[in-house]
Amino acid sequence: MTDRSFLFVLGSSRSGGNTEILARQAAEQLPAGTRQHWVDLAASDLPDFQDGRHEAEGWTPGESEAMLRRATLEATDIVIASPLYWYALSAHTKRYLDYWSGWLTSPGSDFEQRMAGRTLWGVTAMADHDEARAEGLVTSLHHTAAYMRMHFGGVLLGNGSRPGQVRDDERATIRAKAFFAQDAPLARFP
Ligand SMILES: Cc1cc2nc3c(=O)[nH]c(=O)nc-3n(C[C@H](O)[C@H](O)[C@H](O)COP(=O)(O)O)c2cc1C
Repeated sequence: MTDRSFLFVLGSSRSGGNTEILARQAAEQLPAGTRQHWVDLAASDLPDFQDGRHEAEGWTPGESEAMLRRATLEATDIVIASPLYWYALSAHTKRYLDYWSGWLTSPGSDFEQRMAGRTLWGVTAMADHDEARAEGLVTSLHHTAAYMRMHFGGVLLGNGSRPGQVRDDERATIRAKAFFAQDAPLARFP
């Protein structure tokens, strides 16, 4: 058993898609005993984030929000597995990350201190063959890690449109094998 614990946050709006396939290819290479927790945002009933940060009475988290917050805090490594949607993160993924802003500022929260030093990773499938077009998503995750004083392991990219097509992307399959073994430096704003 290692002391690492990976939370895979699936952000596609379909199940069993390319992003999940690629994330599972990478996860297969994790050392034996590494804990893995997989959460499919599309299967959760997390409502849209309501910005109550500056309201005196705060808010009471629903069941899905509480589960996600707990799962996030339990992980040493958070893997955002989002397809590329309009050159950015999917809406499901973005909504989950929006909740981080709430968790950062809820009364008595230690979310910021506890997340600092942990590692953020990304896994993304995209239909386009030009990976430079995923730059917006990569920057968004990198800057999120920098803001949170987290390490950033980068984004594993794979090509595919129909579900399963990413398996034909040999370069992605090779990269998946080494992805979680690579260095994840502390993220810093440029
Ligand atoms: C709403 C939507 C927006 C998309 N936008 C892009 C895009 O900007 N660039 C791209 O290369 N592919 C885009 N795609 C294609 C998906 O990234 C591609 O089908 C990917 O394999 C989906 O991943 P999934 O199978 O994990 O859902 C888009 C697909 C959808 C449904």
